Amino acid sequence: MKSHFKIRKEFLVLLVSVFFVSCITNVEEDDFDEREVIIDSCAEITFSQNIKPIIDAACIDCHGIGGNFPNLKSYSTISSNANSVKAEVVSRRMPKGISLKQSEIDAIVCWVESGALDN
Ligand code: HEC
Repeated sequence: MKSHFKIRKEFLVLLVSVFFVSCITNVEEDDFDEREVIIDSCAEITFSQNIKPIIDAACIDCHGIGGNFPNLKSYSTISSNANSVKAEVVSRRMPKGISLKQSEIDAIVCWVESGALDN
């Protein structure tokens, strides 16, 4: 009788240990999921690193000084036309004759919706 009780106690200890180990594992998984949700690739988009190079490569031939309206030569003219730039690239009306990668369109949308900052 006494030894039978001892075995059950050890078994309980084992069960409790397994329970705690699985709790710890779950906590780690939750942290990982939250980190993934918090990462916002949009926050990494900047005018100088992402937007200006896209405009220079895909728009400036036709929208430089003396070209078609709007002029897209500098931050001030690009930002003051930010909403129509966004609308034209999302609808893929622009750039005329060539096409942007989806990631480039997404970057322009992110930048405009984040306030078209000079960053
Ligand atoms: C091959 C020449 C060419 C290229 C390249 C080009 N555009 Fe245009 N864009 C034009 C012309 C021409 C117009 C005048 C309206 C039209 O013909 O559709 C225009 C008009 C626009 C307008 C004004 C639209 C309106 O009616 O309000 C915007 C904004 C614009 N382009 C943005 C861009 C952006 C952003 C890019 C680069 C991603 C780009 N364009 C690349 C030729 C071009």
